[in-house]
Amino acid sequence: MKIAPSILSADFANLERDIKVVEAGGADYIHVDVMDGQFVPNITIGANVVSAIRPTTKLPLDVHLMITEPERYVEDFAKAGADFIVVHQESTLHLHRVLQMIKNAGVKAGVVINPATPVSAIKEVLSMVDLVLVMTVNPGFGGQAFIPSCLTKIEELAAIRKECGYDYEIEVDGGVVPETAALCAQAGADVFVAGSYVYNAENPAQQIELLKAAIES
Ligand code: DX5
Ligand code: ZN
Repeated sequence: MKIAPSILSADFANLERDIKVVEAGGADYIHVDVMDGQFVPNITIGANVVSAIRPTTKLPLDVHLMITEPERYVEDFAKAGADFIVVHQESTLHLHRVLQMIKNAGVKAGVVINPATPVSAIKEVLSMVDLVLVMTVNPGFGGQAFIPSCLTKIEELAAIRKECGYDYEIEVDGGVVPETAALCAQAGADVFVAGSYVYNAENPAQQIELLKAAIES
């Protein structure tokens, strides 16, 4: 079970400090939310910021691209030091090609589905990915409420993984707090992204502990 704090809810003027706090607090990945104001109604950061934070941590950078035509930027994020590049099924006409580009760049490839997208939409690429991200909110903002109907997709992905002998990690993102993390863990999730729960608190390290305790119970 891994915790991936999302720096979307960190202090953008103090990213190094906020990354080091969660690294010391037991985080497993750093989740980086890239938004273009087109695929989602919000704008965040680009490859230059990924490059700037790269030297601040030993943890893998889990880069979640919420951008249209991610194929145009794979190279930039790979060069910036991303360990995972995760692309939305809904964001490109050529999902297989983008995933191949990511792998050819020597980066772990992830695919992500919105709440309205079924697992069947990514069936053909499950054999080639290192990670599948199930959005449990509609992407664009931190601090939204968890959508419980997404849980069955986690179960489905865990069943397919077992049946076909695949080894992708199942990640969840959106509205993750101890109660919802426990439900996702039960359904078969391995990696838990949490933004506001970790960072909108006095002690982010303690929040990570609380999430881990809920997942392991
Ligand atoms: C939402 C982002 C999330 C966001 C989650 O579009 O993909 O990673 O940071 O925030 P919380 O944990 O606050 O729901
Ligand atoms: Zn995200």
